[in-house]
Amino acid sequence: MKKIEINRQLEYIERVRQINEGKNYTYYILTMGCQLNENDSEKLCGMAEKMGYSKISDMNKADLIIFNTCCIRENAEDRLFGKLGEAKKVKENRNSIIAIGGCMMQEKNMIQKIHESYPFVDVIFGTHTLHNFPEDLYMAINTNKKLEDVLDIDGEVIEGLPIKREDKIKASVTIMNGCNNFCSYCIVPYVRGRERSREPKDIIYEIQDLAKQGYKEITLLGQNVNSYLRVENEKGIDYERYNGINSFATLLRVVNEIDGIERIRFISPHPKDFTDDVIEAIRDCDKVCKLVHLPLQSGSTDVLKSMNRRYTKDQYLNLVDKMKKNIPNLTLSTDIIVGFAGETDKDFEDTLDVVRKVNFEQVYMFIYSRRNGTPGDKMENQVPDKIKHERFDRLKALVEEQIEVKNKEYIGTIQKVLVEGTSKNNEKLYTGRTDSNKVVIFEGNEELIGKVIDIKIISEHMWYLKGAIVNG
Ligand code: SAH
Ligand code: SF4
Ligand code: F3S
Repeated sequence: MKKIEINRQLEYIERVRQINEGKNYTYYILTMGCQLNENDSEKLCGMAEKMGYSKISDMNKADLIIFNTCCIRENAEDRLFGKLGEAKKVKENRNSIIAIGGCMMQEKNMIQKIHESYPFVDVIFGTHTLHNFPEDLYMAINTNKKLEDVLDIDGEVIEGLPIKREDKIKASVTIMNGCNNFCSYCIVPYVRGRERSREPKDIIYEIQDLAKQGYKEITLLGQNVNSYLRVENEKGIDYERYNGINSFATLLRVVNEIDGIERIRFISPHPKDFTDDVIEAIRDCDKVCKLVHLPLQSGSTDVLKSMNRRYTKDQYLNLVDKMKKNIPNLTLSTDIIVGFAGETDKDFEDTLDVVRKVNFEQVYMFIYSRRNGTPGDKMENQVPDKIKHERFDRLKALVEEQIEVKNKEYIGTIQKVLVEGTSKNNEKLYTGRTDSNKVVIFEGNEELIGKVIDIKIISEHMWYLKGAIVNG
């Protein structure tokens, strides 16, 4: 982002801070959706805290209420509207400021709906104007007017915003914004705009800084991470070369060299862009986790075609084979949509077939939700809800069966675990994750937090494993 713009926002941060001085104001934030939204929320938190608000988890006591919304599936709307009802009461009691941002605000007609049904909302901002939050908030406080700051054009890549991270060990770093793929079920390209990558040096500086602060695990984020810099390369946009980074694979290799970082993950890659150089980089880079998230969406070539995924069932399976051959200890996770328009029983069987063959470490399963404005919504032969649910249950049963078998295979093995902290349910126990992102619970001590240690797995419990530290 242009320096002049960031300076302008820093000025507004200072102005709001002065207004708030001595008032001990608090803020509450609700984040819906994916890790990109969570990363955006960390920036909103960074700005809010610099403006003199401190974070609380009880919305009823908040002076500033922020909703960072998602619209990938329909149910998010009901959730937001329910929360807005509650927020209205809080506003009546303490004159709180209510701000809504994120993907849902970029949807057609949504702003109008908020104006009509929830006129008490003070600030509405979109995905391209997140960085204007201090200015928007200042205007809302100072003019007492309702403010709307949503742009349809792609925002510039934002650099230099304050950020307040949720975790001390693991950090997310957004490397690109937007998506150009237009999968026919998906609303993301309409609400997040076109693909644009951050400059390599900005990413590397951010990760070097995280390493200095003691962070151990970095997740590189983007809707389509493995096409990092593709658009820029095609358009001939000449970013300042940094350590030879000119693709996702070269970025992985450079991040792998950053001292202090122990683990690198990335989500989400697209199978169609999974080039050999990326496979080789995963193989060669010791810090890059061997769990790869490879969204399948459907196992049927016909459904994949109407989803506009641009790969077939065989191409997906061949890619998996190639990865398994080239990357020792590879594990895979995936996303699957059940009940997309036109999905027949036979198509669904193809999905089950791929799941059986690949044997994923984890499967994120979704029932198809029609999104207004996407080609999928206009397709005929939508699958009835009852069938969608039946198929979902069958897929879930298969996945759980596979995970149970897989979990048993962990018993007796020694796993490298990055220790994250104490267990949520039992303060005496510690928790961490394997390279394959499995949660492991064990008896430990505080000094182990942030270290990668060897743990022998003793038992399995569907969503986590229990283990014991291997001494020596
Ligand atoms: N860009 C990423 C993730 C996008 S959203 C990718 O391509 O993998 C995360 C997941 O939500 C998607 O992978 C998909 O499985 C699911 N999803 C997206 N749109 C959906 C819809 N309309 N209904 C149900 N699930 C959807
Ligand atoms: Fe949506 Fe497809 Fe883009 Fe992922 S790649 S965000 S599923 S359009
Ligand atoms: Fe949702 Fe937006 Fe992410 S629609 S899934 S929060 S990019």
